[in-house]
Amino acid sequence: MSGASLTIVEVSPRDGLQNDPGELSTVQKIELAARAYSAGLRRIEVTSFVSPRAVPKLSDAEAVVAGLRDRELAGLSMIGLVVNERGVQRAAAAGVDEINVVIVASEPFSQRNQGMSVSQSLAQLPDLLAAGRAAGLRTTVTIGTAFGCPFAGEIETALVADLAGQAGAAGPDEIALADTIGVGVPTDVTARFGAIRAVIPAGTGLRAHFHDTRRTGMANAAAAVAAGVTALDASLGGIGGCPFAPRATGNVATEDLVYLLERMACPTGVSLGALIGGAEWLGESLAHDVSGALSKAGPFPPGSPTGAPAT
Ligand code: COA
Ligand code: ZN
Repeated sequence: MSGASLTIVEVSPRDGLQNDPGELSTVQKIELAARAYSAGLRRIEVTSFVSPRAVPKLSDAEAVVAGLRDRELAGLSMIGLVVNERGVQRAAAAGVDEINVVIVASEPFSQRNQGMSVSQSLAQLPDLLAAGRAAGLRTTVTIGTAFGCPFAGEIETALVADLAGQAGAAGPDEIALADTIGVGVPTDVTARFGAIRAVIPAGTGLRAHFHDTRRTGMANAAAAVAAGVTALDASLGGIGGCPFAPRATGNVATEDLVYLLERMACPTGVSLGALIGGAEWLGESLAHDVSGALSKAGPFPPGSPTGAPAT
């Protein structure tokens, strides 16, 4: 099994919180990201720079980034999600290290999610990435609804490959495929990553973003590792969802993913014990149970060390 250079990207402060019924204060959001950092995670999607009208739960984006900067967490790469030029400018001014620019594979979802057509968002992509690069930021393009759309239904692999080819031509450091509504299965993962690899520039990182809505997230993550992805998104406690995707539930839980990868002999550099503690804290802070399994079932074998935080 490959995975030597596999990085887990923690997305709970962004995807996790954008649609959660619970409320975290800005201070608690900073604490969430800091706990993920303490567990050993070094790429964290800390917020999004979108319209506060569209996503009110993340309207404190600048304050979250400033609070984390103040903590001086060495080696932390903060990612801000963006969908337009204004978002890139805000993210750069706030002091993130990376931008994650979202485009969407389905026309109706693109209109609902970001108020523009797929071709409009593709057309602005080179400028957004150039602006990010000019600000010294690492850049990712995420293709949303790459495995299926709640409005348009099936999304063909050929369409995803076509979009990835166009996105790749704009020169991002990384391309991610997102199963926004958790409908994909491992064979879809293998097919899509195989297809996009053939059309994007060599050296472009490959990242996968799975929602576990239909409980296929872990199997998909394993398939993505086998397909050679370099980064996997996950969310502490398995929290998450999208305000524009009816019935979508959370991402694969970070603690469950770390358990899976470590048992598959893919080193993660992340402390399972710290993640389990973080998932418990998160459930208490949000005042609801989290869906992740490891905080309920515990690690295995019994009495096994749960790992030391990476230095
Ligand atoms: N940051 C803050 N405000 C922004 C913004 C940004 N990046 N981009 C636009 N806005 C503001 C506009 O100024 C406008 O404000 P106003 O109503 O007070 O005048 C408002 O948002 C709407 O902008 P408009 O250009 O009319 O477009 P819209 O209503 O079609 O919305 C987006 C388009 C992109 C702003 C909105 O759909 C959005 O933020 N989507 C993000 C969705 C998301 O985060 N999804 C989950 C992750 S993929
Ligand atoms: Zn998501």
